[in-house]
Formats: sequence, C-alpha cells, structure tokens
Amino acid sequence: MEFEHFTLKSLLIIMAIIFLQNHLLVVCLDMKCNFPAIFNFGDSNSDTGGLSAAFGQAPPPNGQTFFHSPHGRFSDGRLLIDLIAERLGLPYLSAFLDSIGSNFSHGANFATAGSTIRPQNTTISQSGYSPFDLNVQLAQYSDFLKRSQIIRKGGFFQKLLPEEDYFWRALYTFDIGQNDLTAGYKLNLSTEQVKAYVPDVLGQFSNVIEQVYSRGGRSFWIHNTGPVGCLPYIMDRFLVTAAEIDKYGCSSPYNEVAEYFNLGLKETVVKLRNELPLAAITYVDLYSVKYSLISQAKKLGKFFFFM
Ligand SMILES: *[C@@H]1O[C@H](CO)[C@@H](O)[C@H](O)[C@H]1NC(C)=O
Ligand SMILES: *[C@@H]1O[C@H](CO)[C@@H](O)[C@H](O)[C@H]1NC(C)=O
Ligand SMILES: *[C@@H]1O[C@H](CO)[C@@H](O)[C@H](O)[C@H]1NC(C)=O
Repeated sequence: MEFEHFTLKSLLIIMAIIFLQNHLLVVCLDMKCNFPAIFNFGDSNSDTGGLSAAFGQAPPPNGQTFFHSPHGRFSDGRLLIDLIAERLGLPYLSAFLDSIGSNFSHGANFATAGSTIRPQNTTISQSGYSPFDLNVQLAQYSDFLKRSQIIRKGGFFQKLLPEEDYFWRALYTFDIGQNDLTAGYKLNLSTEQVKAYVPDVLGQFSNVIEQVYSRGGRSFWIHNTGPVGCLPYIMDRFLVTAAEIDKYGCSSPYNEVAEYFNLGLKETVVKLRNELPLAAITYVDLYSVKYSLISQAKKLGKFFFFM
C-alpha cells in the first residue's frame, strides 16, 4: 500500500523493541501484571492481518524475513505488537477480520493498515485509507465482546474465544493517528489546516478509550505517533522544500505536526486518567525512539543498509 513504507517500519521496530521490551518489563514488574489477553486497535504499525483479510494479502517482500511468506503484516518482520505478545507469553494476535485459522482465545486485533481515527470521506481506492477507522474498530470490538460470550456457552468454537474475565484483565493497546495527519495533506490542506482538526481527532480517540473503559477495559497502552516527516512516502509524494528538510533528512513541517498531535495526545491521556479512575493508562513515546534511530543512522548504520 502506498501509505506505508514497510522497510523503514521494520527498522524502526528493531529500535523500538529494545525500548519497549525494557519498558513493558518495568511496568510488569511494578504491577505484577499478568495479562491473559491483548486487544489491539490501530493501523499498519500493528495490523497482523486485518487489511489483508479484507483486501488481499500484503504482498512480498512483506513477511519474508521472519514468517518466510506474506503473513498479513505490512512489514518483512514482526511488528511491535507481536513482540509485546511474545513478552507477555501470549500467542500472536489473530486479526478480527480474518476468518481463516483465527484463534481469539487470548485476544483479537482490530487494527488495519491505513486506518485513521476519524472516518474518512474518501474510499480506499481513492485515497488508500482503510474503511476500518477507529470507530469501526470499536464497533467490531463491542460486537466481539458480546457475541464471543454467547458462543462460549458451548460448541466447537468456544475454545477459540476469550473467557469473560479476560476483557477486563486484558491489555488494550493503541497505535493510531499518523494516517489522520497525512489524510489532510493528501487533500491539499495546509499545515495550519491539519493542526486545526487535530483536536477533533483527539476527541474521537478519547471517546473510544472511554467506550472501551465503559465495557470493562482497565489497562491501556497508548503509542504516540512517529515522525511522519521521516517516512519515505511522505518525502516522495508530498511537497517538501529544501529549506524544510532537517539535518537528518526528514521533513520538519510534517514532524512538527506529529509533535503537535503527540502533545495533544499526552494531554488527552492526562485528562483520561482523571476521568477514568480505575484505569491504568500508559503513554508510550515512540516518536522519540523512532527519531533517535533515524538521527543516529550512522552509528546504527548496520540496520539502515536494509532501507
Ligand atoms: C488457541 O490458542 C491457544 C493459546 O495459544 C491454544 O492453547 C489452543 O490450543 C488454540 N486452539 C486451537 C483450536 O488451535
Ligand atoms: C467528512 O465530512 C463531514 C461532513 O462534511 C465532516 O464533518 C467531517 O469532518 C469530514 N471528515 C473528514 C475526515 O474530513
Ligand atoms: C491536490 O493538488 C494536486 C496538485 O495540484 C492535484 O493534482 C490534486 O488533484 C489535488 N487533490 C485534491 C484532493 O484536491
């Protein structure tokens, strides 16, 4: 898909794994957490097969490094969500949309590549953005929660679905937002115009967290958005003047928008912590992890040869 660049992502993942594994470990040691399931919401950063199930497999070279064939991910290796699952001792998440071979006993993945938080007014063939925006993912989760408990009452499929108490004991992970930012640029909006709709995007995000909480979700793990101005497809497709390129080769205006979004996301998380007293909400600064990988490309050059 044009909206993602799988190779860069795989590299960023390597860096982020190191950070995240340590971070998760700290969180788990502190809380003695024992999550029996993960429910994930997001875009290609954490899609383990959703968009592929709906629109055809992510083609090679996706999947070649680790799974040795296309495996639903827009990446040639594992995604962070795979490593989080490994670290928690859980199986890789099946995509909610995947009707073939899925096993949801320890969670489900509602993420699809190209997803945005806000519903888009364009189709996937016009813009490349997934129709499974975060509101749709919430509806799917809600349906999954209700119907899985009916089906668990008996029959062949009961063992493929989570136990009832897993829904409140689970880790709820979110990695979504970057496509909301690029969507505006694709419509030729200016940076000011994109910034102007960020509060609406964050409001809709916040609403989804509240909805999951109201259905019993308690542990939230929220990734902020990465430096979109460093993504090759942004540099390739969007207008970037020489003066706007920073010393690491990234486009400053796009990164500033990502930072603006992240600032708002952080404030949103603080607000949510007050509103939802029984929730543990972790804000994860992946922007810094990804940007340091890019800015230290010379030092970490070994990884960058794959780009
Ligand atoms: C589903 O996954 C769980 C956890 O990995 C495993 O124990 C179980 O055997 C799987 N069920 C089927 C039918 O494959
Ligand atoms: C889609 O159109 C509606 C109605 O004009 C508008 O309120 C909404 O903000 C638009 N969504 C996006 C993502 O532009
Ligand atoms: C955005 O601008 C480009 C270049 O002027 C044009 O080709 C494209 O149709 C415009 N897109 C929209 C959605 O207006």
